[in-house]
Amino acid sequence: MSRDLQDAPTDIITFVHVTDSHLLNHAEEVFHQLNTKESLEKVLASSLARYPCIDFFLFTGDISQTGTVESYILFKSLIRVYDRPVYCVPGNHDTPELLQRIIPDSPDSSINIIELGKFTLVLINSWAGAEEHHGIVNQSCLQQLERHLKSSADRFNIIAIHHPPVLINSKWLDELGLQNQDELLRIINKYSRDTLLLCGHVHQEVDQQFDNLRLLATPSTCHQYKAKSEAMCRIDVPLPAYRYVRLSIKNGIDTKVHYIK
Ligand SMILES: [Fe+2]
Repeated sequence: MSRDLQDAPTDIITFVHVTDSHLLNHAEEVFHQLNTKESLEKVLASSLARYPCIDFFLFTGDISQTGTVESYILFKSLIRVYDRPVYCVPGNHDTPELLQRIIPDSPDSSINIIELGKFTLVLINSWAGAEEHHGIVNQSCLQQLERHLKSSADRFNIIAIHHPPVLINSKWLDELGLQNQDELLRIINKYSRDTLLLCGHVHQEVDQQFDNLRLLATPSTCHQYKAKSEAMCRIDVPLPAYRYVRLSIKNGIDTKVHYIK
């Protein structure tokens, strides 16, 4: 069962990281031959069957492909089934203010800081504008993040953002990356002691370590991209995926990506 972590002194937290579900407006629609709603449903059900005690779900953007109210109503109908808190950040295909109407904790012009026992979840919006696919974190959010990390150096910070603040060696995806990635990484590395950063956007697994920062990207719940590609290249028969994360103040980060066959 889920636990109320807001005031809990717990030093262990577990969750499922889900990303890039690209929901369309209607349940029966398909996106490049794939029903993204059914794919997300499969991921949610399968992850909870394997990990029934998770504390929450974390979605790192491109929840919707269309960015419409209809797609977010569809999202709400899917997550409502599972009695679990849901935290999310918008991606380039989302519409931040519409997503926020459905999930009030989703960030828009400010970062959102959520205390979870001995951990802090920091939700950051990297949406750069309608029809833009690269990301950017605005100066006000960077300043808020800097203030937060400065005052919480003793806490374990979990940062969620759609665009990875690193290059992943796929030319086309790196060109659509986070424009001010160095600025963001500099702030995180300067102030943070233990930090896990989770992101999406790249539809593939990434695991990088920078000093005290572990950076993880998780494959999509629908289409996956081939690693190290010059141009966009989808995997022919993609398997929907999710990431399980267990954080412990004592033992650090334990994580595993699962693909559903
Ligand atoms: Fe994206």
